[in-house]
Amino acid sequence: MSAAFAVKSTETRSSPPPAAQAARSDLAIDCKIDKLFYGDFLAVRDSHVPIEKGKIVGFIGPSGCGKSTVLRSLNRMNDLIPSFRFEGHVHFMGQDIYARNVDPVVVRRHIGMVFQQPNPFSMSIYDNVAFGLRLNRFKGNLDERVEHALRRAALWDEVKDKLKNNGLSLSGGQQQRLCIARAIATEPTVLLMDEPCSALDPIATRRVEELMLELKKDYTIAIVTHNMQQAQRVADVTAFFSVDISQGGRTGYLVEMGPTEQIFNDPREQLTKQYISGQFS
Ligand SMILES: Nc1ncnc2c1ncn2[C@@H]1O[C@H](COP(=O)(O)OP(=O)(O)OP(=O)(O)O)[C@@H](O)[C@H]1O
Ligand SMILES: [Mg+2]
Repeated sequence: MSAAFAVKSTETRSSPPPAAQAARSDLAIDCKIDKLFYGDFLAVRDSHVPIEKGKIVGFIGPSGCGKSTVLRSLNRMNDLIPSFRFEGHVHFMGQDIYARNVDPVVVRRHIGMVFQQPNPFSMSIYDNVAFGLRLNRFKGNLDERVEHALRRAALWDEVKDKLKNNGLSLSGGQQQRLCIARAIATEPTVLLMDEPCSALDPIATRRVEELMLELKKDYTIAIVTHNMQQAQRVADVTAFFSVDISQGGRTGYLVEMGPTEQIFNDPREQLTKQYISGQFS
């Protein structure tokens, strides 16, 4: 299986074979976590998080409820943590990304990630964007792809005359858009963003939010945010996680997930109502 993942191809975007299409063809990712451990610690349990194609899904919930953990499990980023153990499945376009023959590096090419702190590499703006393409031995026109990615990330006009400058010389907001350009240069299908605006000022935050809405035309996006207004501004669907302390542990789980408007205006669960009205954080 796994033409999309297992085969190391020089193409940067490949399609899964027809036979591997998801049962629900509207989903980019179907994530079902039964149990997710760090060592003996049960960090997340019983969370079904289906992510529809072309939508922005917001993950909200109190600190420590597992938002980042769940997000990172969507592109096998948690594999970098030795104690991580996952029971469940994550189907990407119908294929289980945790299947034994799947190369996590290839998964991350299809499902890219942008982190909380802008983290450009200490190299030129151009090389930052070209990084993933070179890693994947991209054979096409590199200049064109770099320009395209910077344009898509709404950064081209600001950097086109200084592509050789170090990425770290940019402002925080520009650095985050550079990281977005780097993430989309390899044309992933899904973009994961873990609190991408938390280190940015309100103006830079708005720019990144506008960018997300623009990118939604081509990408499926999952974003963790602590900012309730941000979730309401950008997310089509919101997933609310909380922490279960009843067994003496601190295990995160999905409380409910639905259209953002419903979650904020008419939540099914009392706990959601309490959280969005600020009764706990
Ligand atoms: N690398 C790790 N090793 C061990 N435990 C971890 C690791 N990363 C996270 N955890 C634990 O897993 C739980 C979920 O953490 P996670 O970072 O996913 O929460 P979060 O909802 O993103 O929180 P925050 O809003 O503070 O970012 C926490 O109890 C945390 O301490
Ligand atoms: Mg987090």
